[in-house]
Amino acid sequence: MTDSRMNPEAPPTPDHVTIYAKDYEPPKWWVRHVDLDCDLSADKARIRATLNVEKNGSHDRPLVLAGDGLKPLTVQVDGADAQWTLEGDNLLIELSGEAHEIATTVEFDPSANSQLMGLYASGGLLCTQCESEGFRRITFHPDRPDVLSTYSVTMHADAKAYPILLANGNKVSEGIGEDGRHWARWEDPFPKPSYLFAMVAGDLSANSGAFTTMSGREVELNIWVREKDLPLTHHALQALKDSMKWDEEVYGREYDLDLFNIVAVDDFNFGAMENKGLNIFNSRYVLADSETATDQDFDAIAGVVAHEYFHNWSGNRVTCRDWFQLSLKEGFTVFRDQCFSQDHNSEAVKRIEDVRLLRAIQFPEDSGPLAHPVRPDSYIEISNFYTATVYNKGAELIRMMRTILGEKDFRKGSDLYFERHDGQAVTCEDFVKAMEDASGKDLAQFRLWYSQAGTPTVRAHVDASGSGAVLKLQQDIPDTPGQKDKQPMAIPLKMALLSRQSGAELVEERTVMLGEAEQTVTFEDIAEADPILSINRDFSAPIILESDRDDEELAALARVDGNAFARYEALQELNLRALLPVIRGETVMDASKVIAAFDATLSDERLDDAFKAEAIMIPSEAMIGEKLATIDPDKVHAARQALGHEVGKGLTEKLEQMYGRERPAGDDLSVAAKGQRALSNQLLGLIASGDPAKGARLAKAQYDGARNMTERQGALTVLVSLDGAERGAALEDFYNRFKDQGLVLDKWFGLQARAERDDTMDAVEKLAEHPDFTLKNPNRLRALLVNFASNQWVFHHASGRGYDLLARMVIEADKLNPQVAARLVPPLGRWRRYTDARAKLMRAALQRIEQADGLSKDVFEQVSKSLG
Ligand code: ARG
Ligand code: ZN
Repeated sequence: MTDSRMNPEAPPTPDHVTIYAKDYEPPKWWVRHVDLDCDLSADKARIRATLNVEKNGSHDRPLVLAGDGLKPLTVQVDGADAQWTLEGDNLLIELSGEAHEIATTVEFDPSANSQLMGLYASGGLLCTQCESEGFRRITFHPDRPDVLSTYSVTMHADAKAYPILLANGNKVSEGIGEDGRHWARWEDPFPKPSYLFAMVAGDLSANSGAFTTMSGREVELNIWVREKDLPLTHHALQALKDSMKWDEEVYGREYDLDLFNIVAVDDFNFGAMENKGLNIFNSRYVLADSETATDQDFDAIAGVVAHEYFHNWSGNRVTCRDWFQLSLKEGFTVFRDQCFSQDHNSEAVKRIEDVRLLRAIQFPEDSGPLAHPVRPDSYIEISNFYTATVYNKGAELIRMMRTILGEKDFRKGSDLYFERHDGQAVTCEDFVKAMEDASGKDLAQFRLWYSQAGTPTVRAHVDASGSGAVLKLQQDIPDTPGQKDKQPMAIPLKMALLSRQSGAELVEERTVMLGEAEQTVTFEDIAEADPILSINRDFSAPIILESDRDDEELAALARVDGNAFARYEALQELNLRALLPVIRGETVMDASKVIAAFDATLSDERLDDAFKAEAIMIPSEAMIGEKLATIDPDKVHAARQALGHEVGKGLTEKLEQMYGRERPAGDDLSVAAKGQRALSNQLLGLIASGDPAKGARLAKAQYDGARNMTERQGALTVLVSLDGAERGAALEDFYNRFKDQGLVLDKWFGLQARAERDDTMDAVEKLAEHPDFTLKNPNRLRALLVNFASNQWVFHHASGRGYDLLARMVIEADKLNPQVAARLVPPLGRWRRYTDARAKLMRAALQRIEQADGLSKDVFEQVSKSLG
């Protein structure tokens, strides 16, 4: 075979080409039905595919079937051997008629598939991951989301090694073959894009249940795992039932097949995948009991189960026309899973968590070299666009539409969307249009949220004089790569004007639509002369708010605002006001206002523990860094440590008294119990900040007496950053206790990588050589490296050792798994924001990666864009 890359005369390799949204064209050929015959074993899969293709419109273009690393063994058209050519990895077949039957055979080795895309082996199982473009690693196919087909799949495998054979839809027949083999045939009656194809073969056991749908149909539910893991599946099964019920109640959406399967696998590039009727999950989002999983893990499992289940409508029944529309399904589905979790927990606290995540991950993305709109205009590798912007900012867009339309019209809009587009592959525009048509509201300007990248800054100022008040608003959208001079956006701001004393709403809560670059809103007849502005309540828009409210006003909001999110915001702002001047070298730390505000919050009996736990969290170093034009990680760290120390000292008595309260039962997963544990762990952290020796003693006692993983991990999180014998003892105990449980061992790696210590850099280098560390398992890789790279002060070690290590790991990991390797690059891409010496070292690390041999297009895209 000739390789164009070897020949300097040849055109540039087709690998690193940019795909543009504006170039979209409908498919030249439809595929109406796919029949697969799969002969499976660990190191050999033989796939015979029969595609019923049909010409779309009139043209004389050949059929182009995408492949990735495949060689055709046979190609037949309508039963006869056919002429074909390979263009790069793609198979071209000239066809004479309007409709044909195309049959191809390929063979490959699943055990050699380290990319974990397509069909691969994981812990004795064979499983698939096809989104976005993995199906072409299994068979030749157009493999684009606007080509929808029904599927029938026959799987053959050794009956002992692979007693369970699963694919999408319903099992229609099965039987015994020769030589100890057996087979099963599955049919999926719903036309679907190839990215939703799935099959699994393995020695699996099911925790089974049933759900009766709103129309009275009985659905069989199975959570498939290795037999020994069965006791860990109850929470996931319950979450699935809760999700099915919730989607009926809140969106009127009923499940459509008679069977819903979830399979847990240990090696998985992402969280989970919504394949029709056969979801495949990273085992970390399935397996849990209170000994091995924290309350957060439990909540994350429920959230991901809900997310994948909700995709059955928002993603599967109505799918994406092309990958630029990814947020159509992901933004909407994240919004849906967020609301599900809000309904099953404390609503305000879930909102706070989601906003914290948005600020920690999406805001930096939006202000860096990889910034892109929620609906991107171009990509080199689509896998790089499964981002916080597409997912989480995308969810914020849906939430804003709900705010603008109101709940009732929003539901009308979603009903119309599902009704209009069921069975279709559509665009973000189609979604907005349905919302518009159902509500009669004009969303023309709102659409800019899909096309303009960058986080808007909104400045808000209130002038109160006499009996009225004027709210002045200004907005500013920053330039981002490839986008300058942006238009003002439509920004829904939930606001109220409050009495300083009582918090009473002098101007009732309303949503102000900011649409101009500058705008004023007038309020008449206000009973008090000096009201306080409460704005962007519930984080109604994903913006950066700048206000000139003084510390007293913020302290008052923190105490009296009726909107819990706004109270949290006021506390965050007070923290930042204590931190930023110290970091800039303008003053020494004055923690008095934070101390007073935390004190008042902790004493407020109307507030629940989960809220208090969030409220007394000092903003992370990453979040503080976002507020600085140039980041000096040493200064950020020192200031944050100082604030923690002052707060811990200043509130010792109260912290210890509250920390000493009786704890809920170890396996109590009620909202109240989870809140109590979350608060208790935060209190412990602050106590340790004030008095490390005492913190270490208390944490060790909590560790030794831990009755569940939330207590154990909470204690260890505090201990790992402290000195003293307790630390080593607890880490060793944790390792010995859990060394055979992969998901828990991930925590052991992660906790150490997050430790705020000056020897963490050494520790991480050592852990990268630890016999239990491997780049082959994405969970293990992320446990060490993602945690390490987000540990600001450690990763940005002045020596550049952190950057070196990460660069080395990216180059190594890229040889195995480009998708996962590419996800490690963004922390280095932030170089423009750091002080000169570090910026240089970060760039050098990126350049080293760029020069590595045989770089994947995944890493190439991230690195080249990061260097800019
Ligand atoms: N659709 C999956 C989910 O969000 C994620 C798939 C990720 N795949 C990828 N190639 N990035 O539920
Ligand atoms: Zn999703």
